[in-house]
Amino acid sequence: MKQSKSNLQFPKHFLWGAATAAHQVEGNTHNQWTVWELEHTKSLATQASYQYGDLENWNDIKQQAKDPHNYVSASAVDHYTMHEQDFDLLKKMHMNAFRFSIEWSRVEPKEGVWDAKEIEYYKRYIEKLKRRNIEPVVTLFHFTLPVWFAELGGFERRQNVRYFTRFAEKIIRELGVNVRYIVTLNEPEVYVAASYLAGHWPPNKTSKWLTWRVTNNLAYAHNQAAKKIHAINRRYKVSIAKNTSYIYAGDDAWLSRLTANVLQYLRDDYFLRKVIKQCDWLGVNYYFSDRVYGYRVHNPDKKVSDLGWDMSPENLQFALERLHEKYDLPIIITENGLADGQDAERQWWITQTLLAMHKAVQNGVKLEGYLHWSLLDNFEWDKGFWPQFGLVSVDRKTQQRTLRPSALWFGKIIKHLREQ
Ligand code: BGC
Repeated sequence: MKQSKSNLQFPKHFLWGAATAAHQVEGNTHNQWTVWELEHTKSLATQASYQYGDLENWNDIKQQAKDPHNYVSASAVDHYTMHEQDFDLLKKMHMNAFRFSIEWSRVEPKEGVWDAKEIEYYKRYIEKLKRRNIEPVVTLFHFTLPVWFAELGGFERRQNVRYFTRFAEKIIRELGVNVRYIVTLNEPEVYVAASYLAGHWPPNKTSKWLTWRVTNNLAYAHNQAAKKIHAINRRYKVSIAKNTSYIYAGDDAWLSRLTANVLQYLRDDYFLRKVIKQCDWLGVNYYFSDRVYGYRVHNPDKKVSDLGWDMSPENLQFALERLHEKYDLPIIITENGLADGQDAERQWWITQTLLAMHKAVQNGVKLEGYLHWSLLDNFEWDKGFWPQFGLVSVDRKTQQRTLRPSALWFGKIIKHLREQ
C-alpha cells in the first residue's frame, strides 16, 4: 500500500466512513428480533457445533458459539448511550460519514403512537454527527420491525406497506434538513431469503410464494417511501442498500456462463429493475464473489474469513463496473468488510478494496463514498456476537472500545486521501 497509496485518487468530497445498524449495536431494543432471540437462544447454542464446527477457527469461537447468551442482543454494545464516544472514534479515523439505522420500534412502539423522546434522541444524535462534520447516511429498515407490525403480517401484506411509508415520512419530516442520504431498505433480498426462503430468521417461514410476495412488497415499499420523501423535498437522496456479489463462470462452459448470468439477474437485477427509477444513487453492500461451475456455486477456498466466506475484495471492481454499466447511477459502498477477530486480514482487505475502487473510478464508475462494515464489533443476527466485523473491538463486559491496528492504519490512509 505504501508505494501505491499516493497514486490512489478519489473524487473530491468523497465520503469515507463506517456503517452500523440499530439492533446490532444500540442495545435494549424491542422488536421482532428481540422476541425471536429469546425464543431461540437454546436451540442456536445447541446447533452451534453442527453449524460452525467445520470452520478453521472453531476452537477459538466454540466457547462463545455454544453459550446461549451469545444469541441475545441484550445491551449489545450500548451504542445507544455511548454514541458520542463512537462518533469520536470516527473522527479519530478521519472519517466524514456514518451510516446507521433508525429503530422503527423505538419511534413508533405502538401502531400510530409516536414516541417524542425517541424522535428527539435521533434528532440530537444526528446533530452530534453534524457538529463533527460527519455526513449521516440514514437507514429506515435494517431487518428489524416493531412487534405490532410483525404481528400484522409485516411485509407479507401489501396493505401493511402504508405503515412503513407513514414511518418514513414522519421521521424524515422530523429529521429535516440535517439529513440528505437516505437508505429505505437494507438488503431486501437477504432479508427475504433468510426469513421466507431458508427460514432461519424470523418469522421462520419457508414459502416460495411468500418469498416472491415479500420481495415485491418491499420493492413497492421503497418506491412509495421514496415518493413521499421526495415530495417533502427533492434534495433528499434516496436509495436502497443493495447486496451484491460478483458472480462469474469458473470455466468456459456455456452452462457455467449461463448459470452465472441467471444468478446475477435473479440476485441483483430482478429487484433493482423494480426500484431503480426511484433511486437517486445506488448503495452497494459487497462481501464476497461467487464462482460458478456448471449450475453450482463452488468457490475457491484459498482464503476465507472467520465466517468461512470467500475473500475476493479485488472483485469489487467488477461488481461496481457491472452496476455502473447497467444502471448508471452514482454509487456509495454502504457496506464492505469481513469477520476477522484476530485483525489478521483487515488491512490487506481494505488495501485490495481501495485498489479495486480506484480502478473502477478510473473506468468511469461514479463512486461517491465508502462505508466500512462495521464501526464496532456487534450482534451478527442469528450468529450472535462471535463474528467480529469491527474496526473497533468491544469488550462486552466493560463496553470498552479499542481501535484495532487495521483501523489506526486505515485512519492514516483516509487522512492522506482526503488531503490530496
Ligand atoms: C447486513 C449486516 C450484517 C453484515 C455481515 C449484511 O448482510 O446488512 O447487518 O451484519 O452483512 O453479515
